[in-house]
Amino acid sequence: MSAEFYRIAHIVGVLMLFLGLGGMFAFAGKGKASALYPILHGLGLLVMIVAGIGQAHKLGYGWPTWMILKIGCWVVIAVLPTLAKKNVLPAAVALLLALVLGGTAVWLAVTKPI
Ligand code: HEM
Repeated sequence: MSAEFYRIAHIVGVLMLFLGLGGMFAFAGKGKASALYPILHGLGLLVMIVAGIGQAHKLGYGWPTWMILKIGCWVVIAVLPTLAKKNVLPAAVALLLALVLGGTAVWLAVTKPI
């Protein structure tokens, strides 16, 4: 598969992840959300990491620091709904953190500062 295919799949994965997060945070503490949201969240995470690594491989990047940092953002975003559910973080704070970490991950991909 081409680098373009992986790039598009990576961004579709990001869309799935954030749609899932939105639904899960909207229902946080308000009863049971539709199973669709955790599915979107989990599937988005999977599609993103597979397509991200596929893209890095196609482009011959290896494992640069900016990519390791993106994986760090991805891991923290992955656990945010659990932290909100267990009341470790208020849902609004978790939502804001997701936005900041998502923005940081985009910045890292675009500028590759390190
Ligand atoms: C929340 C986490 C993430 C977000 C929001 C995100 C977002 C993006 C976006 C929007 C791009 C396209 C940039 C462009 O076309 O110029 C991109 C590219 C890329 N991402 Fe991610 N990403 C995330 C996590 C990851 C992870 C976990 C990996 C790891 C394997 C990864 C690897 C890549 C690679 C290799 C590129 C290609 C950079 C290039 O075109 O030179 N990303 N990412």
